[in-house]
Amino acid sequence: MFTAPAEDSGDQARNRRRFLQFLLGSPLLASRPVAGWQAATASGAITDLKDALNVMDFEAARQKLPPAHFGYLATGVDDDATLAANREGFKWFQLRPRRLVDVSHADLRTEIFGTVWEHPISLAPVGSQKAFHPEGELAVARGARSMHALQILSTVTTCSVEQVNQAAGRPVWFQLYPTSRWEITERFVRRAESAGCPVLVLTVDLPVGRHTDTLERMKRTDARNCTACHGNSPGAGFQRKPMFDGIDMTGVGVYNAAVTWDFVRRLREITRMKLVLKGIQTREDAQLCREHGIDGIIVSNHGGRAEETGRSTIECLPEVVAGAGDKVTVMVDGGFRRGTDIFKALALGARGVSIGRPYCWGLAAFGQAGVEKVIELLRAELELIMRQCGVRSIAEITRSYVTTP
Ligand code: FNR
Repeated sequence: MFTAPAEDSGDQARNRRRFLQFLLGSPLLASRPVAGWQAATASGAITDLKDALNVMDFEAARQKLPPAHFGYLATGVDDDATLAANREGFKWFQLRPRRLVDVSHADLRTEIFGTVWEHPISLAPVGSQKAFHPEGELAVARGARSMHALQILSTVTTCSVEQVNQAAGRPVWFQLYPTSRWEITERFVRRAESAGCPVLVLTVDLPVGRHTDTLERMKRTDARNCTACHGNSPGAGFQRKPMFDGIDMTGVGVYNAAVTWDFVRRLREITRMKLVLKGIQTREDAQLCREHGIDGIIVSNHGGRAEETGRSTIECLPEVVAGAGDKVTVMVDGGFRRGTDIFKALALGARGVSIGRPYCWGLAAFGQAGVEKVIELLRAELELIMRQCGVRSIAEITRSYVTTP
């Protein structure tokens, strides 16, 4: 017998899941996929925006990108198991639609740090977007503006924060990598603050290196001479990144293995921007965020590009929400490709959901218009599933709308 979801203990859920995994592995069921799950996977290339049925259709943008650039976008780490888990995690949460509710209208407006957005879908920080389209982050900013979406700009952006803010029509959130030299990190913070960015997103999930095997393999199939853009010394790539203008990166890493909560406290002292930590996956770290007065958390595994945990972010979300308490705003990214995925995250306590690769596929395939279409598809799917589930506002999407097998 299934108990109501709010009463599900972690152990019950885990036992059911093990049992299901056992069943799915059984030879009796070997030829039967999980019902309906595979239906959502992609398709051939689309040449016209109107032909896009869902955001997976845009992944065919790989045909427009050199192999190394697509490899950069597509890669996970090690065996890409966490990358795959981010998608598969959604199947462990199922929806509980309610009936006979007047769903003539649904309101997707979402408030985050005092700003009301038209919907809860935001654009995650993704570096080097000119690798996907000549207009890079500027095309994304224009798309975000027309679709009323929050954009988070990467430290390693290929357009300056000032230009992007202008194109976005409002200051974007700025993502910060803690470099290995405090003075350089501080310069990024000051520049973002002077540009008017209201929120600083500190990414904490890449303290050391990683194995991006898929990227490395795809690079080997790329016959072009890449040194004209990338140079041939380790720090040369930064010279083309506007946030690094006038900064000497010799001997400095963009990641910092020594970052601890002391760094976070220090950062807090030098800025009035809201501070969000991106890359939190556990209840313990969420509790520490709360104790350190952090304003927000983005539950993230860097799109399966940090460590190979094998665990999806949607599965991390409930424990982070529990650890964060009421005062810390929790958002999430990683593998969101459907309105139902977003609905599940909101039901599990997320305030907003970010997408990474999908809008870059849209950018690569159609520039600004592709970014807009990707957001529009997800927004429309979210609205549809809300109404199908008997929900009329974002606030009405509560834990009771999802269950676990
Ligand atoms: C990223 N991500 C990322 N995160 C960050 O904090 N700073 C960055 O510069 C980048 N750069 C970056 C490049 C590329 C090519 C990708 C795909 C991702 C991670 C990103 O913000 C986000 O966490 C994931 O992309 C979300 O997963 P999906 O939507 O791509 O599955």
